[in-house]
Amino acid sequence: MASLFEAHPAEIRLLDAGAGAGALSAALVKRLGRDKHRPKGIAVTAYEIDREIHPALERTLESCRAECGRAGIEFSATLHGEDFIEAAVSLVRGDLFGASKRLFNAAILNPPYRKINSDSRTRRLLREAGIETSNLYTGFLALAAKLLCENGEMVAICPRSFCNGPYFKPFREQLLDTMSLRQIHVFESRSAAFQQDEVLQENIILHAVKSPEKPQSVIISTSSGARGGEIEERACPYADVVSPSDHERFIHLVTRESDEVVRLKVARFTTPLTKLGLEVSTGRVVDFRAKQFLVYEAQDDTAPLIYPCHLDGGFVHWPKPGGRKPNAIRVTEQTQELLVPRAIYVLVKRFTSKEERRRVVACIYDPQRISANVSASKTI
Ligand SMILES: C[S@@+](CC[C@H](N)C(=O)[O-])C[C@H]1O[C@@H](n2cnc3c(N)ncnc32)[C@H](O)[C@@H]1O
Repeated sequence: MASLFEAHPAEIRLLDAGAGAGALSAALVKRLGRDKHRPKGIAVTAYEIDREIHPALERTLESCRAECGRAGIEFSATLHGEDFIEAAVSLVRGDLFGASKRLFNAAILNPPYRKINSDSRTRRLLREAGIETSNLYTGFLALAAKLLCENGEMVAICPRSFCNGPYFKPFREQLLDTMSLRQIHVFESRSAAFQQDEVLQENIILHAVKSPEKPQSVIISTSSGARGGEIEERACPYADVVSPSDHERFIHLVTRESDEVVRLKVARFTTPLTKLGLEVSTGRVVDFRAKQFLVYEAQDDTAPLIYPCHLDGGFVHWPKPGGRKPNAIRVTEQTQELLVPRAIYVLVKRFTSKEERRRVVACIYDPQRISANVSASKTI
């Protein structure tokens, strides 16, 4: 992440929001200390709400000071123990009323991830700063972007979930309107980057520059996520990563030539599904929440419950007696909203087991082949 910063300002004013023990700031200071174009000064502003980590963070900042001393770079550090959202919103609000508070020309982040409830104080605060988002990490990124000066750089490691989907659209609009993407690094493995923390997230590293001007291309790079793993890079036209005609502002991360073939094929389908009379949804049943209603064998008061194991050779084969998964769900008042009417459905599963040749498998739920009036499908 430290290696991605490109500009060489004489004074680096670095924001590290959610600094933890300061690993990211330390990495950048180390790199800059050895750089050909060494800065004159580095000023780190770290926000870390967890006071228990402060001693470790202070030690890291002290070693940054020593490192800078050896390299002849002036160093200063400010550690804030308050909520970054709270602090940054008041800075941004100050900005709206005139005083320019675009303090930073660099931001390095590994923000916390958490859903923000729509009626929470955090959500209200973000709204006051003109940010509409439902996750803490996008709140951090949006605020960091607002606190950057023109041509300031941001490098962040975060989930890739913001790249598509309707919930993140306001965030994408804001990000893409104010920042210009330079590189996105995709980790192939969901678990490798945060192995010790058991975080099962698809993570990316984002490098963006605060500028309305977009470059010709964006580097999309990829590696397994294992330490020292090989990195492959592709320079993708900016318009292929974010199509200028796409109102959703999806960010396409095509890491391989073979994926590009798929992207081009999918791009040919220009008609929205709603116009074709098709609706898409995830399965309604979250099985561990509906445990008391699940049964292994269908009975008179149950509906078929479809798991990936029922998808086979283009059709849903139900029931699957003797399997590990329940075959049915009780039809009661509490389960009504989990059921769907008897009709033709196409079920798609995207998490495939090792023996499956394809990553995405689609099968038809044909009510002629299954005797039931309603049915339910697990989230797959
Ligand atoms: C994913 S960790 C990253 C730590 C560090 N940057 C690193 O990469 O090792 C996120 C950090 O943000 C801190 N944090 C969470 N919510 C915060 C908030 N509202 N304001 C400031 N820090 C926060 C957490 O305590 C945690 O240390």
